[in-house]
Amino acid sequence: MRRPHVERLGRPIVRLGEVGSTNDVAGLLAAAGVAEGALVVADRQSAGRGRLGRPWVSPHGGLWCSVLLRPARGPSRGLLSLAVGVAVAEAAEAACDVRAGLKWPNDVLVEGRKVAGVLLEAAGGAVIVGVGVNVIIPAGALRADIGPAATSLHLASGRPVDRDRVLAALLDRLTAWYEAWGAGGGQVLEAWRRRDVTAGRRAVVSMPGETLEGVAEGIDGDGALRLRLSTGEVRRVMAADVQVMGHPARGC
Ligand code: BTN
Repeated sequence: MRRPHVERLGRPIVRLGEVGSTNDVAGLLAAAGVAEGALVVADRQSAGRGRLGRPWVSPHGGLWCSVLLRPARGPSRGLLSLAVGVAVAEAAEAACDVRAGLKWPNDVLVEGRKVAGVLLEAAGGAVIVGVGVNVIIPAGALRADIGPAATSLHLASGRPVDRDRVLAALLDRLTAWYEAWGAGGGQVLEAWRRRDVTAGRRAVVSMPGETLEGVAEGIDGDGALRLRLSTGEVRRVMAADVQVMGHPARGC
């Protein structure tokens, strides 16, 4: 299949000290007609947000950024979100000596602990891809953020990690995976499945008004999570919070 060409993402770049949320700034840029690829990166966020309306505490030492996309057409947005997760995992590995896994839909884990998260939002007629990576955040600040199951690239690799190096790798991998998504998404699914730390494990899936427990059976062609209930029924989950039971898989 002929691939649609994607210009390297990350231009123009807006660098900020403190901001409420980089996703909000990117949304304003989108509404003002700024072209695809624009990047907003901040040292700190005072009102960073995560999936499902959760706050995302964003102190100094993290990579908090948003990229403006204007996808003309392509597979599902669910798959785009998975593509971003793959890009972040690859960027983490490129920037330091870690092995990164993915917990559905796009939590990036290192040694079973969350090191990065992804939040896609629609704003100003565009898709805003928000990425938060714990780069060199001290352990105490992490606990205030996303709980004891969080880590940073610095803690996980045992070495100082340069935020701009992570950003450069992220833009590189994001460009490549956005292009792969536009070409049909098959490669995205394959790459995501190779990093899946959820498949085969018991999981509790929380959705508004419903909590399900079962065994995660990986993702389907649209990027939905397949959950096998004790009755044998398989449910497709499009948006939820997933808690995986038992000890984290070693090595991811
Ligand atoms: C999650 O795992 O819940 C997603 C976290 C996404 C956080 C990033 S940080 C940059 C961008 N701005 C925000 O307010 N959120 C995203």
